[in-house]
Amino acid sequence: MFEKDSIEYKRVVSPGHIRLSAELHGKIVGSVIIFILEKIALLEKFHVDSEVRKNGVGTHMLEEVEALCVEQGAFQLLRIGMFCDADSIFEYIAIVQFLRKRKYKYRGIWLSKKLR
Ligand SMILES: CC(C)(COP(=O)(O)OP(=O)(O)OC[C@H]1O[C@@H](n2cnc3c(N)ncnc32)[C@H](O)[C@@H]1OP(=O)(O)O)[C@@H](O)C(=O)NCCC(=O)NCCS
Repeated sequence: MFEKDSIEYKRVVSPGHIRLSAELHGKIVGSVIIFILEKIALLEKFHVDSEVRKNGVGTHMLEEVEALCVEQGAFQLLRIGMFCDADSIFEYIAIVQFLRKRKYKYRGIWLSKKLR
């Protein structure tokens, strides 16, 4: 376990780009990367290390980048495609549920082939 106050959030904001990291004793344990195209913000990366999860770090980072996106003129935050570095389909479903709970709309995209 760790003290929540020990988490330090560091942000880098430049035109079209936001990067937020969470550090615990100098080690990066969470990160978010956003690209902004016109008024659309794209969630490129959103990850918290498994040993730190369920302590509010992900929620804090999401809320902070949402506010930074608004400051940068974006009106929508979008994730295109799956969270491909999720370790399993269960982790993928968990992150979709996490985002849906936080008012993100989910539109499933899949590939299929009719076999007969
Ligand atoms: C999704 C993810 C970012 C969430 O990070 P996190 O730090 O665990 O997020 P939080 O701690 O804010 O919230 C997680 C859950 O723990 C709960 N929680 C928060 N603090 C808690 C506490 N002190 N005690 C118990 N539960 C707690 C939250 O309420 C939340 O549950 P809910 O969604 O049912 O409300 C993280 O699970 C992750 O990185 N998953 C893998 C993502 C991935 O594959 N990313 C690749 C994309 S590029």
